[in-house]
Amino acid sequence: MCGIVGYYGPQDPKDVIVSGLKRLEYRGYDSAGVAILNDGKFKVVRAPGKLGELQKKLETEKFNGALGIGHTRWATHGVPNERNAHPHKVNGVSLVHNGIIENYAQIKERLRKDGVEFSSDTDSELVAHLIARKVKDTKDLFKAVQQVLPELTGAYSILVVWEDQPDTMVAFKNGPPLIIGVGEKEAVIASDVQAIISHTKKVMYLEDFEVAKVQGNKIEIFSATGEPRKKEIHQIEWSAEQVEKAGFKHFMLKEIHEQPRAVANAIAPHIRLDSKTVQLKNVGFSVNSLDELAKVDSEKDALATAEKLKGIERIFIVACGTSNYAGMAGKYLLERIAKIPVECDIASEFRYREPVIPPRSLVLVISQSGETADTLAALRLAKQAGATTMSICNVRHSTIDRESHGHLYMNSGAEIGVASTKAFVSTLGILNVFSIYLGRLRQAISEQQEKEFVDALLAAPAQMEAVLAYDRFFAEASGRLKAFRGLLYMGRGINFPLALEGALKLKELAYMHAEGYAAGEMKHGPLALIDERMLIVMVAPHDNHYEKTVSNLEEARARGGKIISIGTGDDPALKGISDFYLSLPKASWTINPILEAIPLQLLAYHVADAMGHDVDQPRNLAKSVTVE
Ligand code: F6R
Repeated sequence: MCGIVGYYGPQDPKDVIVSGLKRLEYRGYDSAGVAILNDGKFKVVRAPGKLGELQKKLETEKFNGALGIGHTRWATHGVPNERNAHPHKVNGVSLVHNGIIENYAQIKERLRKDGVEFSSDTDSELVAHLIARKVKDTKDLFKAVQQVLPELTGAYSILVVWEDQPDTMVAFKNGPPLIIGVGEKEAVIASDVQAIISHTKKVMYLEDFEVAKVQGNKIEIFSATGEPRKKEIHQIEWSAEQVEKAGFKHFMLKEIHEQPRAVANAIAPHIRLDSKTVQLKNVGFSVNSLDELAKVDSEKDALATAEKLKGIERIFIVACGTSNYAGMAGKYLLERIAKIPVECDIASEFRYREPVIPPRSLVLVISQSGETADTLAALRLAKQAGATTMSICNVRHSTIDRESHGHLYMNSGAEIGVASTKAFVSTLGILNVFSIYLGRLRQAISEQQEKEFVDALLAAPAQMEAVLAYDRFFAEASGRLKAFRGLLYMGRGINFPLALEGALKLKELAYMHAEGYAAGEMKHGPLALIDERMLIVMVAPHDNHYEKTVSNLEEARARGGKIISIGTGDDPALKGISDFYLSLPKASWTINPILEAIPLQLLAYHVADAMGHDVDQPRNLAKSVTVE
C-alpha cells in the first residue's frame, strides 16, 4: 500500500510524478505529495485526500529542476492529514515511504532523547531524521542510507533525495516492491510498472536489501553492504493503453468487460487446440529463477513439471480476499477432477496457525498483485517446511512470482480498479487448466473427459460475452436494489465461493451489509435475517446441487425475502419463485463460476455507482496490501 514515484530526466518532474501517482492511486488515497527540485532546493507540496487535491495545489507551482519524488498514501501511522502526508523533509533530506517501520517506537524514543522534534506522527519521518543525521557526516546520500539500513526493521520501500546532491536519488527496500525504469537519459523509480510504462518498457526489479543509486543518467545497484550488483533488464509486456479507462466510466467497469479476453489469455498458453488436451507451459520447475524462465526449454520444463507434480499427495491453496475465493472454487475443481485432497486457507490464518504441511505437499498461492504480505509470508513458510510451491500471479516478477518454485499466470493485463474482477475469472480459468492437468497426470480422468473439460473451457469466453449484457439490467435496477437493508448471497458446491465473492464485492463497493453463505447453512442461523427488506441472491445453476438449492430458496421466499436468482437457460421453476431471474448460458459445472462472477460484479458495481461511491477507490482500501 502507498505508491511511490521518483523521476530524474529532461521532462518536467511535476508532470511525470503526478501522472505516475495517478496510476498508483489504487495503492492508497488518503493524501498525496511531491518534493521537486526548484532553484537547488526541494520544494514540498502536500495535500490530504485524493490526488486531485494535490493537483489543485500544484496548478500554479513551477519547478525548474530535473529531479523529484512523489507519494500517494494509505495511512498506517498517523491519521490522514497534511501533516502526515509524504514527502517528509528534514534538513534538506526528503523522503517517501511505503510500508511500516516496526521498531518505530524505539527509534522515536532514541531521537526524542537527542532532542529531535517531530513534525508528523508517522514512522516514515523518523527515517528521514536518521538519514539527515548521518548525511551530515558522510556528505553522501548513498553512504548515509547504507548506514541507516541496519537500524530499520519492518517492511518498507523508500525513496530519498538530498539537496546537497541535487542529481541523486537513492532507493532501498525490504518487502514492498520498487521497480526502476531505465529510459533514454531518464530514470523513473516506482512501486508498480504502471507508473513507468509511458516512459520506458525497460525495467529492473530491486530485491530486498538492495540499494539503487540514480545519479544523473547513471543507475547503479548495490547490496546493503555496498557490493555492486549486476541486474538483468526486463521488458514490460503491458502497454500504456491498458492502464487507461478506454471510454468506460470506471476502470472496474472496463475490467469487467475485459474478462472474456482475460480468461482466453489465461488458458491459451496451456491448451493444445489440435488434441484438446492440457499441457502446463513453462512453469519453471526446470530452472532456478525467473530470469531463466524467459529462456526455458518448453519440452524439458514440461517433463520437470510432470516429475514434480506426479508425487504430490495434498494441496494447500493459500490466498487473501477475492483470490482466496477463487482458491476455494479451485478446491472443488481439484478434488472432483484430480481426486486430490485440497485445503484452502486464508493466508493470514495459515501463516500463524502452525499448519502441518506433510512431505509431498504442494502449496499453491494465489495473488493478483503478487505482493500481498500475508500470502508472501505463507509462501515463505511453506518453502521453509520443505513443500513444493507454485504461484498464480497476475503481476510478473512480483515478489511472490519470484519466490515460488513454479509459476502460472493470470495474464489478465493490468487490473487497476481496487476491487478485483478479471484476475478472479482468469484464476478460475487457470485453476480449471491445473485441475485437468493433474487429473490426467494422476489418471483420475480419461482422455475423453479431458477433452470435454477442455471444450467447456474453450467455450467460456464467448459465453461470458453473452452474460455481459446484464450490464444494462443492473444499471437500470440499481436504484431499486440499493434500497434493501442487506443482501444474503447463497450457493452450494462450487457456487458457494461465488456467494462469498458476490457479498465481498457488494460490501467493499456499496458499503452495504452483505453475507455469503453455503445455501445448506440457512437453517442453522441466517434464515433469521430474512424479511422483506432483505434481498437474497441465489446462485443456482443447473448442476448436481440444483434441486436442493431451489428448496433452500423456497424456504427463504416463505420468510418474505426478495429474490434475485442466477440460473441456467430458461428455468421456469426458478423464475417462478424469483423477483428477478438472470439466465446464464448452459455450461459445465466447472465453468459456471466464471459466468456467475459477471452478474455478481455488475450488481455491486451499479449499486455502488448509483449510491455515488467512488467505485475504483473504495474507502479505507488499497489494492496491493503489502503490510499485514
Ligand atoms: C477484493 C480484492 C481483495 C484482494 C486481496 C488479495 O475485491 O481485490 O480482496 O483479492 O487483497 O489481493 P492479491 O490477489 O493481490 O493478493
